[in-house]
Amino acid sequence: MKKLMEHMAEELSAAFEKAGYDPSYGKVTVSNRPDLCEFQCNGAMAGAKAYKKAPFMIADEVVANLGDSSVFSAAEVVKPGFINLKVKEEFLAEYLREMAADPKLSVSEAQNPKTLIIDYGGPNVAKPLHVGHLRSAIIGESIKRIGRYMGHKVIGDVHLGDWGLQMGLIITEVKHRQPELVYFNDSYTGEYPKEAPFTISELEEIYPCASAKSKEDEEYRNEALEATHLLQQGRPGYMALWNHIMEVSVTDLKRNYDNLNVSFDLWKKESDAQPYIPDMVEEMKKQGFAYEDQGALVVDVKEDSDTKEIPPCMLLKSDGASLYTTTDLATIVERMKLFSPDEILYVVDKRQELHFIQVFRCARKTGLVNEDTKLSFLGFGTMNGKDGKPFKTREGGVMRLENLISDINEEMFRKIVENRSVKDKDAKETAGIVGLSAIKYGDLSNQATKDYIFDVDRFTSFEGNTGPYILYTIVRIKSILNRYLEEGGDSEAGEILAPVNDSEKNLMLQLTGFGATVENAFEEKAPHKICAYIYEVSNAFNSFYHETKILSEEDKVQKESFIQLLKLTRNVLETSIDLLGFSAPERM
Ligand code: ARG
Repeated sequence: MKKLMEHMAEELSAAFEKAGYDPSYGKVTVSNRPDLCEFQCNGAMAGAKAYKKAPFMIADEVVANLGDSSVFSAAEVVKPGFINLKVKEEFLAEYLREMAADPKLSVSEAQNPKTLIIDYGGPNVAKPLHVGHLRSAIIGESIKRIGRYMGHKVIGDVHLGDWGLQMGLIITEVKHRQPELVYFNDSYTGEYPKEAPFTISELEEIYPCASAKSKEDEEYRNEALEATHLLQQGRPGYMALWNHIMEVSVTDLKRNYDNLNVSFDLWKKESDAQPYIPDMVEEMKKQGFAYEDQGALVVDVKEDSDTKEIPPCMLLKSDGASLYTTTDLATIVERMKLFSPDEILYVVDKRQELHFIQVFRCARKTGLVNEDTKLSFLGFGTMNGKDGKPFKTREGGVMRLENLISDINEEMFRKIVENRSVKDKDAKETAGIVGLSAIKYGDLSNQATKDYIFDVDRFTSFEGNTGPYILYTIVRIKSILNRYLEEGGDSEAGEILAPVNDSEKNLMLQLTGFGATVENAFEEKAPHKICAYIYEVSNAFNSFYHETKILSEEDKVQKESFIQLLKLTRNVLETSIDLLGFSAPERM
């Protein structure tokens, strides 16, 4: 569906052309002086140089050609040569009727759908999810949803960290505690037990304990490194133990991601790349890319244009063990083989940027990816506490995701009960829904690359630029629509008519921005643009609501028009929050 901006630019371009100027000057932008006009065209200013003419003269000629425009109700030249524009009310209504009938609400679906793999979540098996993993999950999930809405084939892969030192640490600690277990008996040839020798809570205690020991005790650390290496080589007892660790923690992870309304198409893991490593390394050696440096195998990835030093990409350590880089490269091999994606996007902490520069360059240089496969890195900033330092518990420890969520939900519950609008029975459930909006909107409304401050009080507020405010607006609309139905109204009757007041026109204008906003948010991988947009729409709706009698409108046709506009507003807002990865309750 054609955007409102395109309709306007078409009219302007024709007017420029008719006056003898290049039609490309007919670009229209949202006004930066909303008190004077709704849109503006600065083409005459740009054209003045090329045509050696005063800009207002060009503008005058152009505006003269807009006389019988069906799109504009006003086109005015202001010195030195801007064209200020207002949209014709009837045209706006017509546009919104078309938008309301479009299942995609004016978003143009991709003409050449792309296969996009998003690598996000990235939890490490056996370590509890902490707030550091929250951002990846929230941002990645939103981009996945936006991409799908645009019609692309998007594959979300959690890419579990299951192959690193943490596994060796756990194996070592279990061995110290229960050396008699068959997993540690080299001569054992029978079947391994079905049941894991630990529960999730035990596992969560084992890892930090082992990690602390390894920092103090060199011998212990070496033991863990050795165990990691043996695991990677496929020692049967360790593999069996690894399977237990996986089973126990994946169940727990899935439950956690479910609570966040985050889901993955693939539960692939670092270890799945293992089988690709030997051939990949061999090939890189054969082609002369990989060479030995102090015992390790490396590939140079520096480029002449580098302003800072980019160290070589390390493939194998001197003992032959693979590294984080190796797994990521081999994972690319696997992804190309299984999905031949057009793009792989990594949503990972921006502190890992150098790692991805190395991986991407190495993959490209050695031909692991096709020339037209894009490798992109969306590095997000840190979630800080009010003190500006990485978010911690009150005791100064690493905040577990579960605890963060329950803190927010408790606060939400308190506020909702205070409002007393929902029966106690539902309040818990509602608090969960609204709490999730507080967390996700709080995160997504910031540009992903920036650090932000996680402020529980602000995020859970019903006022201001927050998730609960957006939900509150949606719930308000739903309750008006429900009352309309209860009073015998027909929600399918009527159609959107020209606005009756300024606040209605403003709401209508805001709604027209949906398509461009979603398309741009996908293009720039920037969910915060959708947040900014729905905040404006919510503000516009609430002003309209305060200034307009909706259900008490006596003219039936006019009332039906309001109802259709409300339905469109609700659809735009609900579609938007779905793209952000949360939903609205019926009441709150
Ligand atoms: N597990 C890693 C971590 O916690 C993140 C993984 C990101 N994805 C990747 N393909 N490297 O730091």
